[in-house]
Amino acid sequence: MTTTLLRGRTLSFLRWPQTIDDVSAYAYEEDGGLLLRDGKIVAAGSYAEVVKKADDGVKTIDHRPHLLLPGFIDAHMHFPQMQVIASYGAELLDWLNTYTFPEEKKFRDAQHGRRIARLFLDEVIRHGTTTVAAYCSVHKSSAEAFFAESHGRNMLNIAGKVMMDRNAPDGVLDTPQSGYDDTKALIAEWHGKGRQHYAITPRFAITSSPEQMEMAGALVKEFPDLHMQTHLSENHAEIAYTCELYPEARDYTDVYARYGLLGQKALLGHCIHLSEREADVLSETGSVAVFCPTSNLFLGSGLFDYQRYRSREKPLRIAAATDVGGGTNYSMLRTMDEGYKVIALQGEKLNPFQSFWQITRGNAEALSLADKVGTLDAGTDADIVVLDSGAIPAMKLRMETVKTLAEELFLLQTLGDDRAVREVYVAGRPAKSDMVSV
Ligand code: GUN
Ligand code: ZN
Repeated sequence: MTTTLLRGRTLSFLRWPQTIDDVSAYAYEEDGGLLLRDGKIVAAGSYAEVVKKADDGVKTIDHRPHLLLPGFIDAHMHFPQMQVIASYGAELLDWLNTYTFPEEKKFRDAQHGRRIARLFLDEVIRHGTTTVAAYCSVHKSSAEAFFAESHGRNMLNIAGKVMMDRNAPDGVLDTPQSGYDDTKALIAEWHGKGRQHYAITPRFAITSSPEQMEMAGALVKEFPDLHMQTHLSENHAEIAYTCELYPEARDYTDVYARYGLLGQKALLGHCIHLSEREADVLSETGSVAVFCPTSNLFLGSGLFDYQRYRSREKPLRIAAATDVGGGTNYSMLRTMDEGYKVIALQGEKLNPFQSFWQITRGNAEALSLADKVGTLDAGTDADIVVLDSGAIPAMKLRMETVKTLAEELFLLQTLGDDRAVREVYVAGRPAKSDMVSV
């Protein structure tokens, strides 16, 4: 039994903060304590209260004056795209054909998959993220590599091999049958093993034939508790091509609806150009729209209308994500900084509490995982990030004039990156300071 007591300024969200003054939306302790035992948070609150519950001689780690938050959650990443980041000059479909598919072809080699899976999770942790929903390549071995690495680190991650059987080069294609069989075998081997979750992952409608979409729908029916992740309405050329490929569908969203892919566990990357009808369908089915600001800006895809989606009569469930390697940074701080600007360009604001709610509890709720991660509640998993608001000279200087927690969080989001992440705990164990490559 390993027990650790962490001391620092603890911040955890209870619900969506309506305004910047909505203090009832979060729990903040200036001198907070978290008691961790066997990978779980067993007590949280003021240090004075929590220390009473600790055994004599408990190992105490004093992180004061730093902030302790739930580890960040990234709801959409592509682990085989580490070497795609920073590919110049293309919009989505060209970017996929020119850079992404050739790169993903390299994952035919299982050894390459194992190397990148290790480096990917190193990078994720260095940036303070403790849970991701990841796309693997089409190759079964890439998902095996990802899950083996994730399980070895005792991380709670969601992942799946992409199903794609057309409109991409040889070497990154499966068939409806092999995509189905490989997915089923991966579910049997990995879903529910330790903290691993499998996501059924048809890449998007363009790269799946109607036969493959049928198979994906059959898998969702067979395994209704699993996540399903795909892309939706990212770019105008993509939407037009999808509607050509599926002429019987009313619109892009209807393609996924027809194959039974929508629902509470459906994670739909991008959702930028939805019609009101499509947004209604997502709302009615409880499907999740995943906001990927750095990617949407980098690929010139468009502006996700976060506040309209949240406040419409039929609101959408929203998650936030990096979308590495269309996304340009592994950091959820950098992501929300760009997210703030995307929202500002549409005449709206996302306040700092809403922002930090989103990348912790908000994403956990969107992934239906809030009973396990995304808060500092007793009984949940001990995935924690330690943030240093004065990590670099520019932050330290700006901190001299910061007076409120809201201002501090906004500074962390605006100037922060992996350097602001002092430590990361995964299932109660230090994971960043332990890393060989840091
Ligand atoms: N649509 C289908 N595949 C991808 C991908 O890998 N990245 C992005 N951004 N969009 C996609
Ligand atoms: Zn993506």
